[in-house]
Amino acid sequence: MRPLFIAGNWKMNPTTRDDAVKLALEVKAGVGAEVSPRVAVCPPAIFLAAIDEALAGSPIGLGGQNMHAKTDGAYTGEISAPMLVDVGCTHVILGHSERRHGMGETDAMVNQKLLAALAAGLIPIVCLGETLEERETDRTESVVTTQLTGSLAGLSAEQMAGVVLAYEPVWAIGTGRVATPDQAQHVHAFIRQSLARSFDQATASRVVVQYGGSVKADNASELLSCPDIDGALVGGASLKSPDFLGIISAARAVESAGKS
Ligand code: 13P
Repeated sequence: MRPLFIAGNWKMNPTTRDDAVKLALEVKAGVGAEVSPRVAVCPPAIFLAAIDEALAGSPIGLGGQNMHAKTDGAYTGEISAPMLVDVGCTHVILGHSERRHGMGETDAMVNQKLLAALAAGLIPIVCLGETLEERETDRTESVVTTQLTGSLAGLSAEQMAGVVLAYEPVWAIGTGRVATPDQAQHVHAFIRQSLARSFDQATASRVVVQYGGSVKADNASELLSCPDIDGALVGGASLKSPDFLGIISAARAVESAGKS
């Protein structure tokens, strides 16, 4: 069984460093020394250093929410992979739909960032997923295929095995409208089959594929129990420690029960 991985994407929240540190400390206390499931938090970039300090001694990973593909230079307002590493990051979210659809990020840009993240030693969490219109016109698989092909171009099988994917149907993000376990499992299995074709079966079976989109403590268990769903990328519910810890507990229970 692949290790379950629960990550919190705080997006542009909270608005103060004190509140960010408080949230991180609450999650740290709740997780304790448990390394299973794997857990990471991805706060706004400006709070990363403070959160790294708050998480000292904890197994919780720290992730950026975005990065530039270049290591340094004249790129006003941008942050590079080595900078994320320098402030303590272990992970970075790439190609989130709010960046793809809100800020024009393309698969080619995600691919450049992905290669740079791997070169810097970060574990990338590459997001993909279809819009409501794409789902309703039966284009989910072709959209996901295009995103996979473009975003993962040029990766070796060994590099691929270390990449985390997050399937986040855009229509389920922040809407309270969660994909059913069947809908999510179907796309996760499709993603894994695509990886087996593009890389090989052994690599495909190693890649952790998270689900994201309105994951809450009360729906986590049924999603995480699906054979190809290996964790969750959590938005809203990662901003309240009891809610986020509830999802982590659900993951721990699924791990203890074991799944096929
Ligand atoms: P919500 O959990 O708020 O739907 O957000 C999901 C998400 O976008 C995580 O990256």
